[in-house]
Amino acid sequence: MMQFALKMGLLVCFSIMVLTLYHEAFIYNGGITSSSFVIKQSKPIDMPLSSDVFSHPPGYNAPQQVHITQGDHVGRAVIVSWVTQDEPGSSSVVYWTDTNPQKHKATGKLTTYKYYNYTSGFIHHCIIKNLKFNTKYHYEVGIEMGHTTRRFWFMTPPAVGPDVPYTFGIMGDLGQTYDSNVTLTRYEMNPVKGQAVLFVGDLSYADHYTFHDNSRWDSWGRFVERCTAYQPWIWTAGNHELDYKPSIGETKPFKPFIHRYQVPFWASGSTEPLWYSIKRASAYVIVLSSWLISSYIHSMYTPQYQWLHEEFPKVNRGETPWLIVLMHSPWYSSNHDHFMEGESMRVIFEPWFVKYKVDLVFAGHVHAYERSERISNVAHNIVNGECSPVSDQFAPVYITIGDGGNIEGLANKMREPQPKYSAYREASFGHATLEIKNRTHAYYSWHRNADGYAARADSVMFFNRYWYPKDDSTTKSKRRW
Ligand SMILES: [Fe+2]
Repeated sequence: MMQFALKMGLLVCFSIMVLTLYHEAFIYNGGITSSSFVIKQSKPIDMPLSSDVFSHPPGYNAPQQVHITQGDHVGRAVIVSWVTQDEPGSSSVVYWTDTNPQKHKATGKLTTYKYYNYTSGFIHHCIIKNLKFNTKYHYEVGIEMGHTTRRFWFMTPPAVGPDVPYTFGIMGDLGQTYDSNVTLTRYEMNPVKGQAVLFVGDLSYADHYTFHDNSRWDSWGRFVERCTAYQPWIWTAGNHELDYKPSIGETKPFKPFIHRYQVPFWASGSTEPLWYSIKRASAYVIVLSSWLISSYIHSMYTPQYQWLHEEFPKVNRGETPWLIVLMHSPWYSSNHDHFMEGESMRVIFEPWFVKYKVDLVFAGHVHAYERSERISNVAHNIVNGECSPVSDQFAPVYITIGDGGNIEGLANKMREPQPKYSAYREASFGHATLEIKNRTHAYYSWHRNADGYAARADSVMFFNRYWYPKDDSTTKSKRRW
């Protein structure tokens, strides 16, 4: 009888332990912080150029690689870009609203560039301005007698305001592999409908090819056109945009990227397309460059530093409550890949991020997914020994989402033990969505490629740091880290 009771007692204890672990793991959404999800993953390979996703649009001089991005500071302008291959053709865009067939015309500019033995097609950029908010526009490019025209459409964002709901998709390090195609398809098929994409850098991975074969920039443009022609992607430059290769005489960093992907940097007083800001609905998005033109080392008084110094005080949280920063190289990542590469930038800028209560920081570069708790490491100076990040409710959540599926494969070597600040980490391909509900709440989810379209592998309701700075951490530990 005693033995039976003992056995039953042990069984009950064991069951409680299991239930407790279950509770920790699932109720606290990351209380056990490392996902146990393991996917057998072979290294991604690029889709061959003969793939249907890279097909050239039919017809003479048909515009290809069509993409749009925001063209001013508030969302009433759009930059339309495309490439023609046979001859320059027209740089004009004809556009009209869904409800009024009266057509408007804007004329843009044409550029080309050479990269080693590659000569680009004719790259067109046209800004269409004074658009109405929250309106569906149709547009047509390739308008020239005897040429092929193509039509697309987009929605302008709602007017900027503090409680305007808006949904962003977030992707990074996409490349052009079969996995990249799955990631993009998952984003398109997600029942959470992103209205614009925050892209955190590393687009085509053309530099993977001999002499950085720039025809892979072209194929990438054709691959993503099915999305980029219809909704704006907000571009961040990554290291695979550098295309810096002195051995073949290519010494102008970011040459293909800057020629192909224009951004409205002038609208926020920036002097370079690598750092700028936009307002969109209830969000203020600041884009930063992890790489300066010639250096990875950040210091005070660089042009980006000067710009950001003046930029943060301009953010009016009464108008745009959600302050989001995009950069390529993460500041907080517990992955072995690129470990601490963002340090020189973090040391310089992190005090401002805490002071100005940045809500979220999205980065790529590391080919895995990770979400931090709200942490800062600003107390540290060289002598005080306070060199570990601490829980800080005025600090951002840092999200690494470089898991778009590019040819370099997953970064699956995590540092052990998992730091307390790391709320969730996993080496799987995927994308994220951020559903801003109002000035206080935004529902964030990471969607793993291996799951169903509607699945949310990691979800958090974020509370706005300015309007509702309640603790939104998902792990229980609040102790000093
Ligand atoms: Fe990168």
